[in-house]
Amino acid sequence: MAQLWGGRFTKETDQLVYNFNASILFDRKFYKQDINGSIAHVKMLAKQGILTGEECDAILKGLEGILEDVENGNLEISDKYEDIHSFVEATLIDRIGDVGKKLHTGRSRNDQVALDMKLYVRDEVAELDGLLKELLQTIYHIMKENTETFMPGFTHLQKAQPVTLAHHMGAYFEMFKRDRGRMADIYKRMNLCPLGAGALAGTTYPLDREYTAELLGFAGPTLNSMDSVSDRDYVIELLSAMSTVMMHLSRFCEEIIIWNSNEYQFVEIDDTYSTGSSIMPQKKNPDIAELVRGKTGRVYGALMSILTTMKGIPLAYNKDMQEDKELTFDAIDTVKGCVKLFNGMLASMQFQKETMKNSAKNGFTNATDAADYLVNKGVPFRDAHGIVGRLVLLCLEKNVALDDLTLKQYKAISPEFEEDIYEAVSMENCVNKRNTIGAPGTAAMQQVLTVCENYLKESAPLGQA
Ligand code: ARG
Repeated sequence: MAQLWGGRFTKETDQLVYNFNASILFDRKFYKQDINGSIAHVKMLAKQGILTGEECDAILKGLEGILEDVENGNLEISDKYEDIHSFVEATLIDRIGDVGKKLHTGRSRNDQVALDMKLYVRDEVAELDGLLKELLQTIYHIMKENTETFMPGFTHLQKAQPVTLAHHMGAYFEMFKRDRGRMADIYKRMNLCPLGAGALAGTTYPLDREYTAELLGFAGPTLNSMDSVSDRDYVIELLSAMSTVMMHLSRFCEEIIIWNSNEYQFVEIDDTYSTGSSIMPQKKNPDIAELVRGKTGRVYGALMSILTTMKGIPLAYNKDMQEDKELTFDAIDTVKGCVKLFNGMLASMQFQKETMKNSAKNGFTNATDAADYLVNKGVPFRDAHGIVGRLVLLCLEKNVALDDLTLKQYKAISPEFEEDIYEAVSMENCVNKRNTIGAPGTAAMQQVLTVCENYLKESAPLGQA
């Protein structure tokens, strides 16, 4: 047991209590942020004359040495310390002597941990944003290549109207683009520095909080010291935004699983992203898509957990908040892993274009267009709907598509039909006549592709803008 606060105690902490209370096993994950935060703090203390230049140099050298040694494996973060803050401070004192004891001047572990967690989360938000951008690039590439790849669009998982693969992929482009927008919002809103808030009420030292904020890349200092040490909104926002990312991934996975099924065969997942069965030799299973879909629950769980943890906490810091870490770390790692794997699976997936096209042809996806044809000849839409319904019945009876009926058969149900009906219900036309912005027609799709391309060019990943 190694603690920073033994002075007022007369007995040793019970070992079980110590273990229950300690956080080193998980907060070691942000050793780098902890050390960088301390470096900024010490520079500020020296600038304000609270530490001498010599003291500052000695501490900085010590902290930099610790960082280097942890990174290259020469220094192990030992769990005999209560938390990462204690580990760094004790190691510093051990290495540079008494001057190390001045590190914690004008600081509390409450504002320190608030800072560390923010720095960690901020880095992760930026990394996740970069991964989402890579996924968008993959989606964009598929869109660009497939503006003429016809497939059925579905409602209720029933064939509805023909679309293109570019259009279908475009829907996911919009979703993940909004996800990036949420990352940018979170990054901006959270980017205020809590250091200097002390335990809850600031400090009596003349700290320059603007300076530390600037050194650490924040837009400025937080404005209420009690809020600074007890705010975890940004963690909740990130978990919520990540839950939405997972929800999008999960829907996409669900579609891929359906498309990859023996019945659909719209896609073939690459061997490198599939798994086999230990008993059934013929099997090639979409495990990765299923696992991503499955892991969604885990991220939602983290969100529910932190919301519940935070709901009854009076101001300011309370130890409950230590519970923000493990679940958040797990959720972040889960989401990053899922986005990366999903991206690889999508990029290597084969689209069976002929199968998709035939499926669009054989499901009356052009029935609306046949009705619209009659409307253009002056038939009221409701009557046109009824006429085409009867045509569909006839087709079902004869097991053919609308395209296969003879003009005589068309005319027997409505004399308005002429030879040009075949062109009107051809799949190419059904898609390409739909050219309002956002629709699958080639012209509309080209416009959107240009918007997507410019967006990818202009939106630098967070932290690099
Ligand atoms: N491990 C603690 C946490 O994660 C650090 C802050 C400790 N502060 C305190 N007053 N005990 O929240």
